Amino acid sequence: MKRIRFAIVLASLFISAICRAGEGMWLPLLLEKLNEKEMKSLGMKISARDIYSVNQGSLKDAIVSFGGFCTGEVISSQGLVLTNHHCGFDAIQNHSTLDKNYIRDGFWAANHSQELVNPNLFVTFIVRIEDVTAKSLQGVKEGMSESERQSIIDKNNGEIVKNAKRETYQSAFIRAFFEGNQYYMFITETYNDIRLVGAPPSSVGNFGKDSDNWMWPRHTGDFSLFRIYAGKDNKPAAYSPDNVPYKPKKSLSISLDGVAENDFTMVFGFPGRTMEYLHSAAVEQIVEVNDPAKIAIRDKALAVLDGFMRRDEQIKIQYASKWAGISNAWKKWQGEVLGLKRTNGVSKKKTYEAEFQKRVNSNPAWASYKGILTDLENAYAELKPLGLARDYFLEITSKIELFTVASQLNALVRAYERGGTQAYNEQLTRVRQRMEDFYKEYSAEVDRGLFSVLMEAYLTEQPQEFVSGYAKNIRNPQDAKDDMSRMENLIYNETPLTDQKKLFDQYLSKEPARAVELIKKDKAFQLYADMADTYNRQVAAKLNPIQERINQLQRTYMKAQMEVMKEKKFYPDANSTLRLTYGNVKGYQARDAVYYDPYSYLDGVMEKYKPGDYEFDVPEKLQDLYRRKDYGQYGQNGKMPVCFIGTNHTTGGNSGSPALDAYGNLVGLNFDRVWEGTMSDINYDPSICRNIMVDIRYVLFIIDKYAGAGHLIKEMKLVHPKKKAPVKKAA
Ligand code: ARG
Ligand code: GLU
Repeated sequence: MKRIRFAIVLASLFISAICRAGEGMWLPLLLEKLNEKEMKSLGMKISARDIYSVNQGSLKDAIVSFGGFCTGEVISSQGLVLTNHHCGFDAIQNHSTLDKNYIRDGFWAANHSQELVNPNLFVTFIVRIEDVTAKSLQGVKEGMSESERQSIIDKNNGEIVKNAKRETYQSAFIRAFFEGNQYYMFITETYNDIRLVGAPPSSVGNFGKDSDNWMWPRHTGDFSLFRIYAGKDNKPAAYSPDNVPYKPKKSLSISLDGVAENDFTMVFGFPGRTMEYLHSAAVEQIVEVNDPAKIAIRDKALAVLDGFMRRDEQIKIQYASKWAGISNAWKKWQGEVLGLKRTNGVSKKKTYEAEFQKRVNSNPAWASYKGILTDLENAYAELKPLGLARDYFLEITSKIELFTVASQLNALVRAYERGGTQAYNEQLTRVRQRMEDFYKEYSAEVDRGLFSVLMEAYLTEQPQEFVSGYAKNIRNPQDAKDDMSRMENLIYNETPLTDQKKLFDQYLSKEPARAVELIKKDKAFQLYADMADTYNRQVAAKLNPIQERINQLQRTYMKAQMEVMKEKKFYPDANSTLRLTYGNVKGYQARDAVYYDPYSYLDGVMEKYKPGDYEFDVPEKLQDLYRRKDYGQYGQNGKMPVCFIGTNHTTGGNSGSPALDAYGNLVGLNFDRVWEGTMSDINYDPSICRNIMVDIRYVLFIIDKYAGAGHLIKEMKLVHPKKKAPVKKAA
């Protein structure tokens, strides 16, 4: 009997270990200690040192932070970098004109001289990571105020960075991990001459657009290609026509064999932000209060934008990227709420907290942790109304773009009041530049539509103590009827802020003193200033100290969890630093009776095809290749694989990250997550959390067969880890 019970316990331990595989964004330098064994048991054939090493070339030397917002990887000995289409989109858009429309038609440089320069783009390599916790926290004592603590840490970190061993062309910075319980230093190398090499048409690179975004099954070839240029010495250099293609320490080998269900995969990149160790009260607020409020505000904003964009082609182009930004998070939050509810995210946290409390209560050594959960719960209760007010203020003032202009003018006024004419003029140069870009994508008519709907929400949907008196007053003075359009007219008919020329002629071309005087009398400016002031007094002034207390409590709770829940393996929340996540290729049960396969094929592109449609059109050439099944060496059993999903734990910022097989070969490119599992930022659940990758063979097929850019394939190193068959290079 005992033996049987033992076997059952062992088996269930084993099963839960398997089921948890997938969760975690791990620090590359700790893989050997924390993960290597498990990774090997899941199928990995290389060692932790092949992934991260300071002494020898390793996979990490091929990974870059792409522009600080995405990930990219080096895939040739000539500095070719692969990332997502949506990561390279800004560059593609900037080089597009009406007759050279690279967004619509794609772009392919036939040789190095045709590659396009992008003044503000950069990529950053991680040279080395060091644990500097002990030095960072030197002099920090229990019971210090947050600001006192932070100023000691800032001073320590300044010293550590100053004394860090590095070359002159390298940088160093330190980031907090585990809510400030640990600190790591990153030595980096940044290259600033990054040129656009190739991009598929949007009908491939963004196939399915908003309808398919955050969804599986997916059929998007979400990739673009860039090249790193360096000085003649291969070191970082500012743009120069004399710069040469960068020779990397490491470039990824590319597998032509693909992966199958249950195969080991890992994703290596720069995840932005997760919150895996929150108190259940915080998760409950996200599900019940914050996400729903933000979704509702964006519902309203998107309805206004949609109305205008459908009617007017010019507005559709102007607002395309704002639309994409607003709708991307809007859709993700909806999936997050659904997923947290469906997997009982809050009650799972409560069960975990009950176990934590039980252990703490039974061990006198942990007496100081006894009250931590209650303290957190109370602090979150205090935060609740203020957090909602913060969401209202930030969501609404960032959607009404008149306030974007007003906040720029506010900076100008402040500069004048602080540093007189000289400070004003310095600030004016920046404001001018920003405003020129701003008005290219601004329509006063659309903004007025947004103002009307969103100010109504601001005024009526929240407690009056958080609402600006100025706004209430112009909306509803004693002597006029309560009429939104009256307020709208009052603001939009008078102010020159809606028009670049008027703004410059009437305000910005004047003498600083006069300009400041005029700006301060502007009603749109006054409205924004009073809303901001009301927010600062009524919300921020109360919210900040509570948030500070929560940060302190969360830090203690984090430390306590690591001591008390000993059997659990902890990974730090994402903070835009280099991480590795690993798992298996896997389908999932989306809902009752619906099971999703892990692979999609070109057949699915053709199933979704709607001729001439904005989202689901398919280029003629791609249809032709499909009809002839002309997949070259990239097809598999007569089919063309397009996308696949796995249990790798990813988040925003992982876009463009390489998906690697058991040998560390490139097999895919990460670009999204599935709808049911977007709550992995808060509570990863292995049953439904999946990342979405485009199969590298589809990328190569588009480059080679669709675009005829075989010269790029020739740069790459293609391998057959499964077949050991010789590799054919592009014709
Ligand atoms: N959802 C993905 C991400 O968060 C892709 C966004 C780009 N694609 C789109 N259709 N908007 O960034
Ligand atoms: N598309 C996201 C990005 O731009 C990745 C998807 C996710 O959030 O997991 O980083």
